[in-house]
Amino acid sequence: MEGFYAGKRMDYIDKTSKKSSDLSLLAQCNGTEIMINTIKQDKLFHVDPSDNNCVMEFFYLLDGSVEYEDNEDRKVLNKGDYFYVFKITQSVFFKVLDEVTLLYVSNQPVYKSLKDEMCELTEIVNKVEKKDKFTFNHSERVREYSRKIAEKLCINGERLENLVYAAAFHDVGKIYIPDEILNKPGRLTEEEMVYIKRHPIDGSRMIHETFLKYTNKIIEQHHERLNGSGYPYGLKGDEIMLEAKIIAVADSYDAMTSNRPYRQGINSSLAIKELINMKGTHYDEVVVDLLIKILKEDYNVL
Ligand SMILES: [Fe+2]
Ligand SMILES: [Fe+2]
Repeated sequence: MEGFYAGKRMDYIDKTSKKSSDLSLLAQCNGTEIMINTIKQDKLFHVDPSDNNCVMEFFYLLDGSVEYEDNEDRKVLNKGDYFYVFKITQSVFFKVLDEVTLLYVSNQPVYKSLKDEMCELTEIVNKVEKKDKFTFNHSERVREYSRKIAEKLCINGERLENLVYAAAFHDVGKIYIPDEILNKPGRLTEEEMVYIKRHPIDGSRMIHETFLKYTNKIIEQHHERLNGSGYPYGLKGDEIMLEAKIIAVADSYDAMTSNRPYRQGINSSLAIKELINMKGTHYDEVVVDLLIKILKEDYNVL
C-alpha cells in the first residue's frame, strides 16, 4: 500500500465477524495494522501481554463505553477516551457497558491470530447449532444466568471470562450423542445414559486444542453435584470448582423450564422450588439464592 489511499465507510481489506463482535482490517504497512473492532453490550474482552516485547496496541473509543478494573477500582471509558498497552505483564479485562466501536492500532501484526481465534469459536458454535437448536439457545441462556451470578459473587477478569465461555460451551460434547438418545421421550436405558454422561468429558476434549482450553475443567465438572451423585467423576463439595457449581444451577434451572420436542418445561416457581429442595445436597446454597434473586430482579419471575 503505497501513496495516498482514501477509503469509504464500508471499505476494508478483510473482515471477520462472530455474533458478538466484528473486526475489520482497514490498513496495514510494515507490520502496523489499523483495525475497527465493534463489540456488543455486556460482552467481555481482554488485551493480553505479548511474547514480542515491541508490541504496542492502541485503542480509541469511537463510540460506546467500557469498564475495566484498576487496582480493585472499576473505571469507565467513554466515547473519545483511549487506552494503550506496551510491555504489560498481565492481561487487562474489559466489560462492554454500551456497544463499543474501537479504533485499534497495533504496531505488530495481530489481525490474523485474532481472526483465527474468532473463526475457531464460530466453527464450534456452528457445530452445536447445527446439531441441536435447543442446546444452542439453552447455552446462550445459561451463559447469561451464569454471568449474572458470577458478577454478584465479585468474580471478575480472566476468571469471569473463562466462566462465561465455559457456560456458553458447557454442552458442546453433546454433538457426539446420537439424536435418538438426545431427543428420546421418557426414561433412558443404562446404555443410553453412558452416552449422556460422556458429554462433559467430550466437551472438555473438544475445546482442549483451542484458545478455550482454560475452560476445560469447568466444562468437565458441570454435572457434578455436592453430595457426589453427579457425573462423570462423582466429585463432592470443595472438589468441584465454584464456576462449575454456578453453571450447574443455571443449567438445571434452564433445563427444567425449557420445552423440548418431547416434553413441556415446568413453570419457574416449580423449578425454583426444586432448586431450593436440592440446596446443600446437589446445588450450592449461595448460588441458588443468587439465581433466585436475579430471576426476581431481572426476569420478573415469581
Ligand atoms: Fe450438560
Ligand atoms: Fe446444559
